[in-house]
This record gives sequence, C-alpha cells and structure tokens, in this order.
Amino acid sequence: MEQQQEIHNGIASRLLEYIKTRSTDQAEGVLRVPSVSYTDPQQWQREMDVIFKRLPILAGLSAEIAQPGQYKTLDLLDTPLLLTRLKDGSVRAMLNVCAHRAMKLAEGSGKCDKFACPYHAWLYGNDGSLIRIAGQETYGEVDKASLALTQLPVYERAGLIFVVLTPGLEVDFAGFLAGMIEDIEALGFADWHYCGNREITGANWKIAYDGYLEGYHFAAAHPQTIHQRTFSNIMGFHFYGPHQLIGFPRKDMDKLSEVPVDELYRYENEGYDFVRTLFPNVSIFVAPEITQVAQLIPGPTVGENRTILHFIHRESPRDEEGRQRNETMMDWLKGVVEAEDYSLGLKVQQGLNSGAHKHVTFGRNEVGNQVFHAWLDHYLAQAPAAAKSSESDEAEVQALLLRYACAIDQRNLAALEQVFAADAVAAYQDIGEFRGPAAIIGLIDSVIARCATTQHLLSNVQVDIRGQRATASSYLQAIYVGTGVHAGELQTLWGEYRDELEKRPEGWRIVRRELRTLHNQGDVGLLA
Ligand code: FES
Ligand SMILES: [Fe+2]
Repeated sequence: MEQQQEIHNGIASRLLEYIKTRSTDQAEGVLRVPSVSYTDPQQWQREMDVIFKRLPILAGLSAEIAQPGQYKTLDLLDTPLLLTRLKDGSVRAMLNVCAHRAMKLAEGSGKCDKFACPYHAWLYGNDGSLIRIAGQETYGEVDKASLALTQLPVYERAGLIFVVLTPGLEVDFAGFLAGMIEDIEALGFADWHYCGNREITGANWKIAYDGYLEGYHFAAAHPQTIHQRTFSNIMGFHFYGPHQLIGFPRKDMDKLSEVPVDELYRYENEGYDFVRTLFPNVSIFVAPEITQVAQLIPGPTVGENRTILHFIHRESPRDEEGRQRNETMMDWLKGVVEAEDYSLGLKVQQGLNSGAHKHVTFGRNEVGNQVFHAWLDHYLAQAPAAAKSSESDEAEVQALLLRYACAIDQRNLAALEQVFAADAVAAYQDIGEFRGPAAIIGLIDSVIARCATTQHLLSNVQVDIRGQRATASSYLQAIYVGTGVHAGELQTLWGEYRDELEKRPEGWRIVRRELRTLHNQGDVGLLA
C-alpha cells in the first residue's frame, strides 16, 4: 500500500511539474513499428496463439455474477465461454459447448443452477457436471463423468475474472499481474455496483488499444469532450511489467500545488485521473461519475475488434433517477469512444492497409505505446513457430532488458523469476554480433528510462567525475560515481540488481554480457 502511494505521489508530482513546463514523461528515443504488424493475418494469428490463448485474459467483472447461481456467457476470440458462480462463492469458467453434439449450451446471462441443452436436453449443473442424459435408456451406456463441460483455468481477484483460454495450461497468475492487481484491488471493485455495458466495434485491436495509452490525441480528437477537462499531451507513467498506470492532469490540477508531495495520492479524481491498463487488452478509467472498464476482443479478422465497455460505480443507484443517470452516462461515454476514437481507428486501418508507409512512429511522448509494443515483441519472440531474424533478436534482447529493469524497478521478485526463466531458455541467433558497448549503454539507459522509480532517482543524481560535477550521461555512470539526493538509493537499487545477478549464474545472460563488455572496455568497474 505504501509503495502504491509513493508511486501515485510520484506521478502526481511530475504532472504538477509538467503543467508548468508543458512537458510529459518521455522515452529516450522514438520507436518505429512496422505497419504490417497491424494488417498481417499471420502476425495476428500468432498474437492470438501466443498472447491471447496463453495469458490470463479478462473474462468479466465479479459484479456481473455477484450472486451464487448467476452466470454469463461470452465469446472470447473463437471460444464460447460460460462463467458461473457456485454456491460456495467460487467462479467456474467452462467452454459453453455441450458434450453431446457441441451445441452452445447457454445464452446471455441470468441466474440458474442447472443448464438444459436446447438441442436434446442434456442437463448440466453450473459446475459443468453432466447430471442427466435425456432418454438415457435408448441413448445407451456412457460414462457421465467424462462428459462434463470442459473447464478452463479461472482466477478471480480485485473484482475481476480472468480465464486462460487453453484448457489445463498452468500460468503464474500472481506473477503476471503483480503490482498492477494490488493497485486495482485497493479500489475495491469487488463491492462496486455493475451498471451495465455497451458494445462497439472497430479496427485492429492494437490500433484501438494504442488509443488508450496516450493523451497526446486529446486536443485534436476530443476538443469538446475529454480536452475540456484534461490537458492534452501530459502523461505520467508507471509500469508494472507490461501493465500500465497512466496519470492525466485535469486543467484545474494546479489547485493541488500546495498539497505536500506525500499526500498527493489522496487526490485521484480531484485534479488528476488514472487510466490503469492490463496487458494485453484492458483499460480501466476510474471516474467519480462512472468507471469504465474497456475489454478489447480481437477479431474476427486482423482488421477488426469488438470492445465491451463495462461500467461500474462505487454505489448502487438509490432510485430510478439515479439508474437513469447511469444509463445516460454510459450512452455518452460509448458515443465519445465510438465517434472520437474508434471511427478514427477505422481510418487509421485504411491508411495502414494502403501500404503508404513501411512504419508508424511512436514519439518520445508516446512512452506507453512504446512499452506496449516492446512487450508484444517480447511475447511474439517466444512464439516457437516464428522464424527469427536478427531484427527480432534485437527486439527480444530489448524486451528482455526492459523486463529485467522493470522487475528490479518494482522490487518484484516474482516478475524477476519469470524473466530469469525466459532469459535462460531464449536462443539469440545473432547475439554474437549484437552491437558495441556504446550502443549497449544506450540500450540499458533507454530501458531504464521507462522505469518510473529509477527514473525519478536518476533525475536527482549528479555525477562527480574526477572532482568535476556533471549530469550523468548514462545510468551506469550515475550508479558508479553518482552524488546528489538520491545517489544512495540508486546505489541500493543497483545492489539488489547485483545480488540477484550473483545468485543466479544461469540467468542474466544478457545483462552479464553487456556489463562484461563494458568492464573489458575499462569504462567502469562493474563486475568485481
Ligand atoms: S447437443 Fe446438447 S443435448 Fe444434443
Ligand atoms: Fe481517445
């Protein structure tokens, strides 16, 4: 909790500063992403297979099926799902497919503890067990236990329900969502009221998602709506692995300029707002009027997505008037997203399809998008079938470094374990030719630049080089000869980095390699 508050304080205080300087969090450089990654059906299929079918994906909100006996159905990609809440309060996620001849068992949502198949009336319990075969005497003897609905791994936490779309696949749920899920949990969604949802359709899922990760477009695309309340192109980020906490200042945020920095966390929605994203496809915007949880569902083809906007509120409406107010607010928000974001997305899709430019370019201010695409590259690089080029090697190295840095930045040992595992099995074809020491320093720095805590510490460090005070030109330089307010903390952070390094000779291949190269160059005494 305390660490969360510190993170929120950090973002809010940067926002206050940026309002004065008209600046924003920035990456070290720009990032080019090939246009085909938004149009290529093969890449899209890999994204589905490697990312959407192997990671915990949001299936719904706890509040949608709050009572025992409640259920909802949902088609996620090509998978028909049935989510139920059992008597004991636990949630089941199952394939919504009858074991007889594959009919869709349930439709919509509702409350019942048994499901009769509409085709031949086989009867199932809401835990998926087959209770009765109609006309069993004529159908013949079968083993009912083996004819249950297919179960999927399901996780419920922070008022959200996640499934893994591959039956039986074990994932490290807590490690994957670490940090971000605690941040969301603190909001208490589990007890909030589910107001309803709205659906919209749009372009490729990444085109749509890119729009949730920056406020650079507010002035041009939302002049009469969002930009009335919120500054354009001022963002503060914190990254929990691939998940993002993004702060946006409201135009009246300077009213908080007298608030002590360590109290700023108390003022979410009173001067600044947060968008919280869950990789790969969820964006949560908490607002006092109503909270929007956008669930992006890719497909059915590469150029399409369906987005369900869920709406929740801290309290149930007191009366019909309150309920109507929620309906109006949901319609309004849906209208804004549809007319001012998704309709632009469709035009972007046309532009990309035209092949006019080989790449799209994310600016230094579009940090969130840069990080999102680095993580996509990371997961895609794990795709066993993908033929690797030296370009994808480089992307993988970069993504891995980013994960190392973020895990350390958050002191997140669970995430760190995952990175070790990935590094230990990764095969880098062209690693031998992987750039020189100068580029490596640059790479480490560009990675570190995306880590909010380290970045904050770094900004308060000066470097003492042979008696001369200067600003650190690199992260490593800052760590080794840093003076100034946060030099000690930075040193501690690096100490943790190094302790972990020493514990695991098999991990850290990338980092070790780079440090050794630097060491051999005699630049800095990094490895004792
Ligand atoms: S398909 Fe369900 S009972 Fe026949
Ligand atoms: Fe937008």
